[in-house]
Amino acid sequence: MLGIIGGSGLYDIDGLKILKEVSVSTPFGEPSDKYIVAEYKGREAIFLPRHGRGHKYPPHLINYRANIWGFRKLGVNKILSISAVGGINPLLKPGDFVISDQFIDFTKTRLSTFYEGVLSKEDDTSFDDDVKKYLTNKKVVHIDVTNPFCSSMRQLLKNICTEKGYRHHFKGCYVATEGPRLETSAEIKMLSLLGGDVVGMTLIPEIVLARELNIHFASINIVTNLAAGISEERLTSDEVIQTMKEKTEDIKKIILDFIERLPDKLDCSCEEVLKGAAI
Ligand code: HPA
Repeated sequence: MLGIIGGSGLYDIDGLKILKEVSVSTPFGEPSDKYIVAEYKGREAIFLPRHGRGHKYPPHLINYRANIWGFRKLGVNKILSISAVGGINPLLKPGDFVISDQFIDFTKTRLSTFYEGVLSKEDDTSFDDDVKKYLTNKKVVHIDVTNPFCSSMRQLLKNICTEKGYRHHFKGCYVATEGPRLETSAEIKMLSLLGGDVVGMTLIPEIVLARELNIHFASINIVTNLAAGISEERLTSDEVIQTMKEKTEDIKKIILDFIERLPDKLDCSCEEVLKGAAI
């Protein structure tokens, strides 16, 4: 089952037939909102707005563990994450799509694992794999993130963007900052020297937690603004939301195609991630 996480400016998806809304309780507290179970061309997908409807939660206060746990509890094993980013790489223009293939983590305060050794929490989930084994045995787990994004899902995103003629970039290093403030121009200069292409505040720990639960993960980023100092202007949230609004129709088309075309079985190594990962 596919889960879709909507970012700033994307709180629902019309075109999807809504079957039901479900509240899920987790050992980590409340997810950002109710999960929307929907159908498109006979295929089901589950949608969650990351910040909650009405944009209730800032990036550093999102309950990422609850969000990802809730998805898994509902049977999700693949997540497509949508997010607004600032463009660091000078080749990027506002409105471009970036299908990230790497990340650099500059977050500071986030809870980014389910595996807390003796403190690990379980739940009445349907987990029946290494996740269950590691959680019940209170294991410490170090997952591999050499290539953190699902290669099959990324390829499908690329095919869709190419076919639709959308300006996109198949690679890109996402730098995750803590927020909620934006960056200084000196920080963006540093992040550029380190190899960052785009900057955002939400990929971490979302992708890490998904991988820890054996969930395939891919992200499509919308460049909503040029990052601090790349742009001559001061940055505003108005600009971010305005660009997201302008791209909403394209984003929705990508999502609908993605739901229709995503195979059940993916040709990638994501499901190996927990093998040999526990101590
Ligand atoms: N910085 C951090 N996060 C963002 C930005 C940015 O410039 N634009 C959209 N999300």
